Amino acid sequence: MRDQYGRTVDYLRLSVTDLCNYRCQYCMGPEGVEKRPHGDILTVEECVEIGAAAAACGVKKIRLTGGEPLVRRGLLDICRGLRAVPELEELCLTTNGSLLPQMASPLREAGVDRLNISLDSLRPDRFAAMTRLGRLEDVLAGIRAAEDAGFTGLKLDAVLIGGFNDDEIGDFLDLTREHPWEVRFIELMPMGPCAEWARSCFLTGEEILKRYPALQQIPAGGVARRYRLPGAAGTVGLISPLSRDFCGQCRRIRVTADGKLKGCLHSREEIPLRGLHGAELEAAIRAGITQKPPRHHLTDRPSDTPRTMNQIGG
Ligand code: GTP
Ligand code: 5AD
Ligand code: SF4
Repeated sequence: MRDQYGRTVDYLRLSVTDLCNYRCQYCMGPEGVEKRPHGDILTVEECVEIGAAAAACGVKKIRLTGGEPLVRRGLLDICRGLRAVPELEELCLTTNGSLLPQMASPLREAGVDRLNISLDSLRPDRFAAMTRLGRLEDVLAGIRAAEDAGFTGLKLDAVLIGGFNDDEIGDFLDLTREHPWEVRFIELMPMGPCAEWARSCFLTGEEILKRYPALQQIPAGGVARRYRLPGAAGTVGLISPLSRDFCGQCRRIRVTADGKLKGCLHSREEIPLRGLHGAELEAAIRAGITQKPPRHHLTDRPSDTPRTMNQIGG
């Protein structure tokens, strides 16, 4: 269905938990997430019901997010339930990758079509420092497990942070020479803990093109501009929500783990979905689509959402 600005909305990002086994510095404080009563979080049945209702409103792709979705109990039941929704064309999942060694095969069997894996540094010490609790080797093992389980079209997402990983751009690009992966660089968005970080942390996608003129442009994919190194097996994506925002082409709505529909990652407005069923639930989702804000205001001020990224879902 279309929103009031004529954008087709067909992509739901559904957060299945706000918990995470990492504490990435730009995402949350060292103390992690305040544990909430289980009752605050959508049940397996509610997740599937909301996904099915969204599909009835024209959603064709659902991406499960978190927090870290692989720490969610019942995740495989959610996947199986959503996979059984006939209108749904694609079921995807965004993960930090650390639990894929044990979870990749079950996810594949439960009907997940595609995985995006977050990976901000290829250096073990830096990776540990950024994630506070993570080990690079677990994620690399996770990527291998995903491939062994039969996942193709893997995307590796690196948030580009000046002074942290911008000296690794070449190493990330090198990964695409032999592997059929899409390595994507995401501009850091000022929200949560990183809202007040120094300006020098916020680099643009353009900076990468300036430093690596060998990158050849190929047709865009979703919100990413895409490139390829000559002869490389994989591709490179630039996601530039600040320097070249894609709000005009945004096809997304989101549902938070506590059941609030958000039309935009960065807006304050939320529509509570819990307790609604059938026609009422669909009407609330349609209202959320209609009222989707036209754009974010990140170039003027930090994100308007009082939530941190783990409470929304990347
Ligand atoms: P594909 O289905 O492979 O196109 O994935 P995707 O890019 O939609 O999903 P992914 O979870 O990999 O998102 C990549 C990154 O884009 C996220 O980690 C966020 O940093 C950013 N992002 C995701 N959604 C939005 C959004 O609605 N607005 C903005 N500004 N950034 C977003
Ligand atoms: N800016 C850009 N991307 C972010 N993510 C989390 N916080 C931010 C931010 N402030 C990304 C993670 C991961 C996904 C879940 O969200 O790196 O790829
Ligand atoms: Fe977890 Fe993702 Fe936040 Fe990192 S960015 S702490 S992996 S939710």
